Amino acid sequence: MQKKVSRIGVLTSGGDAPGMNAAVRAVVRTGIYNGLEVYGIMRGYQGLIENDIYKMESRSVANIIQRGGTILKTARCKDFLSAEGRKKAYEALKSRDINGLVVIGGDGSFRGAVEFSREFDIPVIGIAGTIDKDIHGTDFTIGFDTAVNTAVEAIDKIRDTADAHDRLFIVEVMGRDSGYIALHSGIATGAENILIPERKTDIEDLINSLEEKEKRQKLVNIIIVAEGEKFGGALEIAKAVKERLPLTEARVCILGHIQRGGPPSCLDRLIASRMGYHAVECLMEGRHNVFVGIQNNKMNYVPLETVGKKRGGINDEWMKIVKILAS
Ligand code: F6P
Repeated sequence: MQKKVSRIGVLTSGGDAPGMNAAVRAVVRTGIYNGLEVYGIMRGYQGLIENDIYKMESRSVANIIQRGGTILKTARCKDFLSAEGRKKAYEALKSRDINGLVVIGGDGSFRGAVEFSREFDIPVIGIAGTIDKDIHGTDFTIGFDTAVNTAVEAIDKIRDTADAHDRLFIVEVMGRDSGYIALHSGIATGAENILIPERKTDIEDLINSLEEKEKRQKLVNIIIVAEGEKFGGALEIAKAVKERLPLTEARVCILGHIQRGGPPSCLDRLIASRMGYHAVECLMEGRHNVFVGIQNNKMNYVPLETVGKKRGGINDEWMKIVKILAS
């Protein structure tokens, strides 16, 4: 029989994502509304191991729904990978009688939660928060919408200057293992090519298409490259283009961490609020070791055990659309 939760902890882990604050706010306020004590854990699993935990009140989360980053701070914690680190984390929770945990993060953070939940009797509920959108079982992850819109805004600006100079731009967007930001922002900005980790980059094909466009006097081209693209990213692609097409004027722009910051979009605030609310409901209903996602506009509770990268999730039809629309 599952023990009733009375004190819950909440942490943000891994890469921050715009909307994490909105999720923290929802967890804190839903918990307090239901008579629970809520504890904020600083710097993800690192702060948990170090017992860097404080009691949160409703006011602790005032005025944060619109802020990027995370008031709880975050970290990529190596110590939590070891059994010793996880034991320390458990002892920290026990020392404060915390009997339920909400982890807001991506698949790496969820993998840590799985190990923890195998070893200890504290129910863990995940909330899908990552700009990369690479978690299977949810249509949305907190931060993706904001990040992709930041990329779109930047690429639109790049197109202005590309057009003014008749130049080729190779723009790198975030996504270590995932091409979602590249694909969505690329289609939305009319990019001529999109190169992502989920597909092998055919450099010959790329050069041929640039040559063919040059023949038609189509000189303004934007290639969107996901950070984890396997040929080597934007700089390597630019090098290959320079070698093969020395007369082509090409510029590289790496958007980088600008995509992780800024005020969350309406969509990210909304899904974060819904997921935060339901994460607390899950704990109160006695669910454990699932993450909260949204599929077909309904809450989806996915066992943390099954979390893996959403590999191969890129739709071939979308890739075809890129080719046809950019011709
Ligand atoms: O959080 C996801 C992500 O932004 C990836 O797209 C990127 O590869 C990675 O984090 C960068 O992480 P860090 O900021 O730790 O270098």
